[in-house]
Amino acid sequence: MTYEERLQNVSVLGAAGKMGSGILLLTAVEMADLSLQSGNKEKSFILNAIDVSPAGLSGLMKYMREQVRKVAEKKTVWLRKMYADRDDLVENYDIIDEYIFDVMNVVRPSTNMEVAYHSNLIFEAILENKDLKVKLFSQITTNSTTEPWFFTNTSSVPINIIENEAGLDGRILGFHFYNPPAVQRLVELITTVKTKEEVKAFALEYAKKLKKVIVPSNDHAGFIGNGHFMRDAIHGMTEAESLADEKNIPLYKAIYMINKVSQDYLVRPMGIFQLIDYVGIDVVSFIMSVMNPHHADEKISHKLLNKMLLQGVKGGQYSSGAQKDGFLKYKGGRPMAIWDTHKQEYVELEKFAGECDEMLGSMPDSAVAWKAILRNKKKDELIAAFINDLKNIEDLGAKLAIKYGRRSKEIGEQLMKLHVANNSDDVNTVMLTGFFHAYGPVNNYFD
Ligand code: 3HC
Repeated sequence: MTYEERLQNVSVLGAAGKMGSGILLLTAVEMADLSLQSGNKEKSFILNAIDVSPAGLSGLMKYMREQVRKVAEKKTVWLRKMYADRDDLVENYDIIDEYIFDVMNVVRPSTNMEVAYHSNLIFEAILENKDLKVKLFSQITTNSTTEPWFFTNTSSVPINIIENEAGLDGRILGFHFYNPPAVQRLVELITTVKTKEEVKAFALEYAKKLKKVIVPSNDHAGFIGNGHFMRDAIHGMTEAESLADEKNIPLYKAIYMINKVSQDYLVRPMGIFQLIDYVGIDVVSFIMSVMNPHHADEKISHKLLNKMLLQGVKGGQYSSGAQKDGFLKYKGGRPMAIWDTHKQEYVELEKFAGECDEMLGSMPDSAVAWKAILRNKKKDELIAAFINDLKNIEDLGAKLAIKYGRRSKEIGEQLMKLHVANNSDDVNTVMLTGFFHAYGPVNNYFD
């Protein structure tokens, strides 16, 4: 079966979720683009968007239409060539509307798993529940009219365990996108000792067509990305609790400060508590619970996550992509309050942020902002100068930042020692392209 034939019938499981919707978008665009090539116009391309939630699927169709319009607007020149035989499509907006129609025409929303029985390729982005994944894969492979390949987006479960329990024998690999899949360039590729060469070769070709950066991770619970993120999150939460104790301040103030340090001082797109909210406090807790039993010498969990969940605060996103409240409360995507675990209510930033900023101290003049620095040709130099200045000042914010940066580096090195990552380039590429960091954790800045 050629690359193109494999993509003629595909299913995405968990299509209405935040990862599933991104995978669906990227795959629908790739399949529609193939269908527009000369010689393919008579062939059918079917992409089943399967999800248990009918409401989720209708939200998904809205997301798809909006996103495909953006995709189309960025490639009108190419689309003009593809529609050159269509005299009725004159203006750019005619072409864009036609392309949206063609992409949406590929997608078949369904709550019925049986439609996947005819697919050559299954993307899976359901809950991080190993038993459910195994159950669905076994059901599909038993009833399938083809011998499908399975690309799982699991962010933590070792692939060989799913492979063995579902009896897939070389027809599965880990194809781990990062949120939002349409924006983050990273895909972590995890193969098992049994993964067939042709499955891997297809995965590499598909990733290349999507302009994704592939980083191989060894088949170790959590892989590279969550291997770093979960430990980084534990560090952030532990630091917030220690800060609250040492300074005798309420935890919500310390959460604000650590979030600010991990964003502004470390030059990251989001502070660690915002990132936990973005992924979902429940999802982070679940990933840790999958990883923990695989790490005998290390505790991968944090009681603050459980406390939040018991208080009914979960974070995560609505199907529209809007941020739900978690450690932070959001208005128009911007944090405006922090959860007080003691009183179980949000406290507005304007009531306390000023006093916390004063405790952190002022940032050096060399401070750089994440968005502004990303495309700056002197990025590395400017970051080095900023971090060097931080090392030379005694303020609390600078001290917390240096400690945080050192811990992040230590985590990166630990991932190599544990043979999760093959080298420091892979660790750094994961953080640069999956988490949009401005620099990799394994660096000399914090020495
Ligand atoms: N779908 C499609 N496009 C999206 C999107 C989505 N869900 N969310 C954001 N975008 C697009 C915006 O439309 C915008 O595009 P444009 O430049 O063409 O207009 C672009 O992304 C930038 O968005 P914004 O201007 O709204 O905001 P930011 O510049 O702050 O970027 C962000 C938003 C890309 C989410 C950035 O804040 C970021 O990278 N944050 C860190 C996210 C991260 O770390 N993700 C990894 C999480 S861990 C994970 O996924 C692993 C899992 O297993 C747990």
